[in-house]
Amino acid sequence: MVYTEKKQIVSIIEAFKHKGLKLGLVPTMGALHQGHLQLVKKALEENDKVIVSVFVNPTQFDNQDDLDKYPRTLETDVTLLNTISETNILVYAPSVDDVYEGNTVSQKFDFDGLEFEMEGKFRQGHFDGVGTIVSRLFDIVKPHNAYFGEKDFQQLAIIKKLAEKYQIPVNVVGCEIHREPNGLAMSSRNTRLKPEYKQVAPFIYKTLTAAKKDFGTKSATQIMEWVDNQFENNDLLTLEYFIIADIETLKPIKQIVEQKTYRAFIAVYADDIRLIDNIALN
Ligand code: PAF
Repeated sequence: MVYTEKKQIVSIIEAFKHKGLKLGLVPTMGALHQGHLQLVKKALEENDKVIVSVFVNPTQFDNQDDLDKYPRTLETDVTLLNTISETNILVYAPSVDDVYEGNTVSQKFDFDGLEFEMEGKFRQGHFDGVGTIVSRLFDIVKPHNAYFGEKDFQQLAIIKKLAEKYQIPVNVVGCEIHREPNGLAMSSRNTRLKPEYKQVAPFIYKTLTAAKKDFGTKSATQIMEWVDNQFENNDLLTLEYFIIADIETLKPIKQIVEQKTYRAFIAVYADDIRLIDNIALN
């Protein structure tokens, strides 16, 4: 069932809460793929009802063209969700006005510096936009559990911080990256890749796995230089950043310290499409 108005979904949710049902939330921007469906399946295993929000949030885009071209496929999304459950999934697909009530601007958040690393450096205001929409969704749905993919690892860390710092009573659950058989991380943006870019895009994950292999025997700087080189020799993909970061601070490291946990993060342009990915290193 699709709800387009906040007041409709709120009253349904109140009835669920009254019955003592456990609620899961899977926030999405639609154009659902297998990665999203894995989140929804996990949410269904751990909750009685699952609310999937489908909303292309304008305040998290720093590029109007990217916002305009973002795929919008609500009908197909609903059909896909129905294949998982026709009774326990509710879709909340609001208009911009329903969410923002005529004032489409972000709140300002303090995520203890996590917001200034990686994506924060390249996408001005992005995490204020994400914080704004996710805190609104938390407020509307008041879920027990909320599910996010690790492909957007920085976003996941920021949403955990949002819940902790702003005392929102929700359990934020991170779910593993879902990949195409060729290794390409699933993303709604993949549908916009032209065939030659689709063919070359798995190079991103190949590079990440090679970096993982070298982690421990080579220094972080050597690995970063090697990755830079790989992309300089690639005619179709343009590297925006590759870093190895401590998962607690998301700050890039130069030296590996034992007992810390690291991940490699990458952002690449395939034509005008920006793809991100990451991998656990230890
Ligand atoms: O990851 C996304 O699709 C979006 O950033 C989210 C969490 C749905 C907020 O708009």
